[in-house]
Amino acid sequence: MRMPYSSNATFLVSITDQEETVKAIYKPMRGEKPLWDFEPGLHRREVAAYRLAEAMGMHFVPPTILRDGPHGEGSVQLLIEANPDEHYFAIFEERQELHDQFRAMCAFDIVANNTDRKSGHVLVDKNERVWGIDHGLCFAQDFKIRTVIWEFGGEAIAESLLEKIKPLTQTVPLEVATLLNEQEFVAITERAKWLLDGAKFPVDPSGRHYPWPLV
Ligand SMILES: Nc1ncnc2c1ncn2[C@@H]1O[C@H](COP(=O)(O)OP(=O)(O)O)[C@@H](O)[C@H]1O
Ligand SMILES: [Mg+2]
Repeated sequence: MRMPYSSNATFLVSITDQEETVKAIYKPMRGEKPLWDFEPGLHRREVAAYRLAEAMGMHFVPPTILRDGPHGEGSVQLLIEANPDEHYFAIFEERQELHDQFRAMCAFDIVANNTDRKSGHVLVDKNERVWGIDHGLCFAQDFKIRTVIWEFGGEAIAESLLEKIKPLTQTVPLEVATLLNEQEFVAITERAKWLLDGAKFPVDPSGRHYPWPLV
């Protein structure tokens, strides 16, 4: 089944082995809309984002793998059952206790250079766990973050979060680097250093670093 509200060909699929069936989101490379600022192969960035988050000890990206499916090579990501009315703006207003999970996501988005953190790309499941989806537009070489998460701007980043960023100032995990070009993985290190040096969540005085549409 094709997913509504998706800008590319995004399919809801079932994956079955002998024991169980799970639902997942399959994004074939062939279904991508061409973009001027990203090479084809956004599915690889989806997988790179999952691997980077895992390497940072942040487990908010649903498991995402490369897979050759019925429409060719693509990414396959575990589907999170979430209430579609609960996205970033609503959760931020009403769920103070989830803010630390947003802080981690915000730090990740800066390091990953996420240019598409819309409110609807933030989900919360029934166990109060926050998830982030749609990372196809991450890892551009030039820093041009677009996100709705600006509420923490100017605030000091907690030591525990800085510890997760620190290893990236030295080296990018091979399983991430292998999905990107050299300039792109070197840029991860640069952004990690920048964030660690400032040790504060950045602000956006221009007000231009928002995705469109916002939700
Ligand atoms: N892992 C997931 N879990 C739950 N819902 C998802 C997941 N991935 C995508 N979706 C749903 O499908 C919609 C389109 O997916 P998205 O990743 O935003 O695709 P696109 O790249 O086309 O924007 C999302 O807004 C969301 O509602
Ligand atoms: Mg999307």
